[in-house]
Formats: sequence, structure tokens, C-alpha cells
Amino acid sequence: MATISIKTSSAASVTADAHIFLLEQNFSPSLLKDISEQYSLNVESILKNAEFTGKEGTLFSMPVEHNGKVKQLIFGGIGLQQKNNIVVENLRRALGKTVKVVQQKKLVSATITLPPADWFAITSLELAKQVSTIINMALYMFDDYFSDQNRKVKQDIEFIVCVDAASENEVQKGIEQGVIIGESINQVRHWIDLPPSALTPPELAKKAEEIAKKHNLKIEVFSEQEIQQMGMGGLAGVSAGSEQDCKFVVMEYKTAKNDAPTLAFVGKGITFDSGGLSLKPPTYMETMKEDMSGAAAVIGTMNILAQLKPDVNVVAFAPLSENLPSGTATKPGDILTFYNGKTAEVKNTDAEGRLILADALSYAVKHYKPDAMIDVATLTGACMYALGPFFTGMMSQDDALVAKLQAASDRSGDRVWRLPLDNDYKKAIQSTTADICNIGNEKYRAGAITAGFFLKEFVGDTPWVHLDIAGTAYSVPDISYYSHGATGAGVRLLVDFAMNYSKN
Ligand code: BES
Ligand code: MG
Ligand code: ZN
Repeated sequence: MATISIKTSSAASVTADAHIFLLEQNFSPSLLKDISEQYSLNVESILKNAEFTGKEGTLFSMPVEHNGKVKQLIFGGIGLQQKNNIVVENLRRALGKTVKVVQQKKLVSATITLPPADWFAITSLELAKQVSTIINMALYMFDDYFSDQNRKVKQDIEFIVCVDAASENEVQKGIEQGVIIGESINQVRHWIDLPPSALTPPELAKKAEEIAKKHNLKIEVFSEQEIQQMGMGGLAGVSAGSEQDCKFVVMEYKTAKNDAPTLAFVGKGITFDSGGLSLKPPTYMETMKEDMSGAAAVIGTMNILAQLKPDVNVVAFAPLSENLPSGTATKPGDILTFYNGKTAEVKNTDAEGRLILADALSYAVKHYKPDAMIDVATLTGACMYALGPFFTGMMSQDDALVAKLQAASDRSGDRVWRLPLDNDYKKAIQSTTADICNIGNEKYRAGAITAGFFLKEFVGDTPWVHLDIAGTAYSVPDISYYSHGATGAGVRLLVDFAMNYSKN
């Protein structure tokens, strides 16, 4: 865990192991005056010689000696102004890179000198929130199982953000919010990265219960028996092949405000997806512990919202199950009946996410009548192929709700790209033996969208958006503030969406 504090002085006058500077392209040399004097160097000419111009994505670091101690000066480039401002994502990535240098060199403290918020056309509170979120995210590594202590990374580093006195209070608030967001995202990533036999449905339900207890959220955890009795044939059917009990978690945050709208967040929680009897090939199965990333995201979002306290009610729904083959497993050809009474033919047991979400969406609609509902799921390989690892697939017929999510995405950096949920695709899920079929007819291709149409059968008139995070949840290359495993996709997006939600 990082500790982040602020100082209203120049970095040069703060004692730390490292000094981080985030510089725009063609930065003003006057920014480097204090640090040059402090260390008796001409930093401007050193950067010139190193050909560091502040271009986006560039990094330069060097050791300097001062009073017999070695300090690191670390420079990250954030690029040129585009239109009227610099893209915040450039800052996130530059910060991620520089923070990782501090971590790799096993330093214990660093100052950070930030560019002014108005260069990004955002408030200093928002900038500080982004900075502390990213500091935390960049430090995360899943190293629980390394027996060699040298492979473990340092995560408890002290950062001192240097700000001007005028923005001190705003920056302090932003940092506090970002710490809550960043630490909770890392907890979500940790659940996802845990081996599938360590994080089973009952274990993930326990994590949700711990969070609810800590922050006084109402929580219900339904057992497999209750799930069967309630008529959740999708969730029960997917769990039929597993020795682990499935669970259904419902968590509630209530605002003190009267007449506030209610948001429903629904997350897919397959703690391991073998494909079931429609078994996956071995290489496709390797990372399938990630298949509970949606559930982890909505539970982690509740952890954050319980602390940031938006003026909306939020309910999270997490159907949790394993998907395994066995003599008791659901078979291709079986027909399942869901919580809302609809039936589906299971042609492929590997299309299990939509089966458990069908029950969860139906339950949310029936018992909470939410003003808006968003589901988050590692749902289809098709979405991963369509968009790759950098954009979550967003599907909806509600343009107003889509616009709100797009705005949340633009602000938070948790990126989404809309795919057409056009009625032309709807026929793909017709079935000859049940109401609908759990896989799309081959003729219609577009597996991400046809999966979306399956879910649509269970949302009624509720304004709803489906987010497919199959590509973005895990193993995302080249983004400096991620590491090799889980990314926490969806959390920043849902948090920003809830914090800024208004009915109109
Ligand atoms: N969990 C997978 C989707 C997935 C794939 C997530 C890759 C993350 C990375 C899902 O349950 C699945 O297996 N979907 C099938 C559906 C198909 C059988 C219609 C798929 O995408 O192949
Ligand atoms: Mg079971
Ligand atoms: Zn599957």
C-alpha cells in the first residue's frame, strides 16, 4: 500500500529517495531550476543531451549524489497539447512508468511534481484523484506465491505530491478519493489473480460479506439450495457439474438522500470456466480463473461507493459458480428455466455466463425496479477478438444511458467502445425446442452481440447496458499501470458513472 501525502513546496526542498517530474513536450526549463540548484546540476542540459523532450511515452531516469546519498531523478513525458488540452491518459501512463522505476529500484519515497490541472481541462481534485488511483494501480503485482523473497515487489512506498498552496485542499480531497479507488481496484485484481481453487464461489461470497460488514452495507448471500428453490435454473444448471456450492450475492448501498434513483450493477462470477461438457481446449482454459472479473468488479465498486457515498442507491448482484464437467453436469440439449420463467436450450455448456446472468438480471428487475442496470461480464471470446485488449464492448439500445457511460469512460480512462445491439441480430438466438438458445446461429456471426441479445430477454423495460470485458479484464499489454494479470476493468467506469449519475 502506498502512502500519499502533499506538500506545498518545490520538490527540491523535500527529502526523498526519488523525484518524479511529469513534463509536457517542449516544457519550460524554469520548472527545473529548483532541482538543478539543489543538486548543483544543469538538469535542462542533461535532458537535452539525453534527448528527453517530454514526448508522450518517453522516460528518463538518472542517479544523482547529494551529501553522500544517491537520489533518482525520474522524468516522464506527457506529450503535446491536443486541441486545447493534454490527454489525461498520457499522464496516467507516464505516471505508471515513473512509479514502476521507483518500485523496481526498491526506493522507499518519491516526490511527484505535477503539471497544472487546467492543461488537461479538469479540476485539480479530479487530477489528484487520477494520480493517486494510478500510483496504487501501478504498484500492484500478484506475488503471493513466490517463495523467493527477491521476486516480491515493494508496494509500501511513500509518495509526496508537490502542489501550489491554492489547490491544496482540492488536491487533498482528490488524493483521498483516489486512494480508496486504487486500493479497492487492487483488491479486485487480487481476487481475480488468485488461483481458481483458492477463490471458489463460497470464498468470493465471503469477501463480499467482509466488505459489507466493514462498511455497513446490507447483504444477502443465497445458497445453492435457495437458488434452486427460487427457480434460478440458469445459475443452478451451470453449477450442476461442480462440487462447490454456487452462491448469489446481493449487496446494497443506500444514500441518505430521499427519492434517489437506484442503479443495479450485475457481474458475471464464474470462478473457473472449463467450458463444462463442451470442454475448452487446454490453452483457452489457462486463464479462465479470470471469468469472475465482472463479479469482482461490482463487489469492489460497492466497497468504493460505500466510502465515497454518492447520492444514488446502488445494488450489486453477483451470481457465483464454477463451470465444470461431471456426471451431474448440464448437457448440451438440456433446457433450463430461469427466474423470470423463460426457458433456454443449452447447445453449448461453454456459453454459461449468459445463463447465470439471466437469473441475476431477472431478479434485479423484479425486486428493485432499477432506474438503470449495467452488467459486466467476461462474456465472449468474440468480443475479445473484435476489440482486442484496450476497449470493453458496450451494447445497449438506450442511447441516453450509453452517453452517460461514455462520459464516465472518458473521465475515468476505463475505456468502452459501442457495438451495435441492432434488432437484425435478434433472430440468431431462436430455438426449436425452447424460448431461446444459448448460442447464436452461425449465420449471424457477431458472437458478442448475439450474447447481448440473450441477456436482453431478461431486462424487460429497464434502461440497460451490457459491458463485455472478456478482452480488457486480464493480460492487457503495454499499459504501464497494469501488470501481467488482472486489470480491474469496469471498476473505475462504474464508480465514475455512479458518482455522476443523474436521472436526466
Ligand atoms: N468465459 C468465456 C469467454 C471468454 C473468452 C472470456 C476469453 C475471456 C477470455 C465464455 O464463457 C465462453 O466460453 N464463451 C464462448 C461462447 C460460445 C460457446 C458461444 C466463447 O466465446 O467461445
Ligand atoms: Mg454445484
Ligand atoms: Zn464459457
